[in-house]
Amino acid sequence: EDADKSARFEARVANEERIEPNDWMPAAYRKTLTRQISQHAHSEIVGMLPEGNWITRAPTLRRKAALLAKVQDECGHGLYLYAAAETLGTSREELVDQMLSGKAKYSSIFNYPTLTWADIGAIGWLVDGAAIMNQIPLCRCSYGPYARAMIRVCKEESFHQRQGYEIMVTLSHGTPEQKAMAQSALDRWWWQCLMMFGPPDGESQHSDQSTRWKIKRFSNDELRQKFVDATVPQSDYLGLKIPDADLKWNATTGHWDYGAIDWQEFQDVLAGNGPCNRDRLAARRKAHDDGAWVREAATAYAEKQRARRAA
Ligand code: 3HC
Repeated sequence: EDADKSARFEARVANEERIEPNDWMPAAYRKTLTRQISQHAHSEIVGMLPEGNWITRAPTLRRKAALLAKVQDECGHGLYLYAAAETLGTSREELVDQMLSGKAKYSSIFNYPTLTWADIGAIGWLVDGAAIMNQIPLCRCSYGPYARAMIRVCKEESFHQRQGYEIMVTLSHGTPEQKAMAQSALDRWWWQCLMMFGPPDGESQHSDQSTRWKIKRFSNDELRQKFVDATVPQSDYLGLKIPDADLKWNATTGHWDYGAIDWQEFQDVLAGNGPCNRDRLAARRKAHDDGAWVREAATAYAEKQRARRAA
């Protein structure tokens, strides 16, 4: 009987139909989407930390307002994504506990420090640029709630990317010190952004299944290549040098060939040994504990409302 339901499910996905929360779906489809959507949400929330670090030190009011809006957007993206993940049957509390206990992942990219204001420009330009590359195809994901959450997220991401690139344009066309700051940020974020797209296709554990189920529309390496091809000309316009001696235009393929990525660094970060992993989890655990009274008050208030209505 499940075999029959499974065959019907595969036919629906092959037919580009949207799978909705109340539809029948294989347990493994539910599981991999809960995994990916919740980790995507964790990434958004943890991603607020490196960016938030510069809100009080933004160089002008305009920059501060834009950064405030961006960090607030990331929080909203996290909430849409937790709401989408909850439609698959796991509560937000449980998903958040999985992240706080270190069981669930969040994007490797947020385990690096934001050392100067130029890092805020590099994050908007490169990290949000990479996120857009990855999130546009997710608007066509077979699971309805995830795809719909992505449409709103992508609109806001393009503002994030533009404000970051504008910061880099200002710095790279500024004083020599400002240009050096921008170059240093590019040096420290470039390779880590390439790692954001995940392991090479040959080592990607979920890609085959996710591609068959139309969760993943492009492979990790395809999106990584798209990102490199789009970003090299932007870096040229800034007059900054991408820190890859092997970066070379390949006229035959029509793509930029790039050097070897340090996958040991990637694995170290995933194992919790990146520069800021401990700080990020400690900050999230503290925020969670400090916010316990708000959750308790909201629950008590909801109880009172329910009792009043029942009376
Ligand atoms: N950081 C941490 N873990 C990563 C990773 C990364 N950059 N890339 C891959 N991994 C993990 C996977 O989660 C998986 O581990 P798991 O089984 O415990 O979940 C393992 O490495 C193997 O990788 P796979 O390629 O097999 O995994 P996926 O098929 O899930 O592909 C992915 C990885 C491309 C990141 C995919 O999960 C995805 O598209 N996720 C949604 C997008 C997302 O999460 N982006 C993160 C950044 S969000 C962001 O940038 C916010 C922006 O506003 C700044």
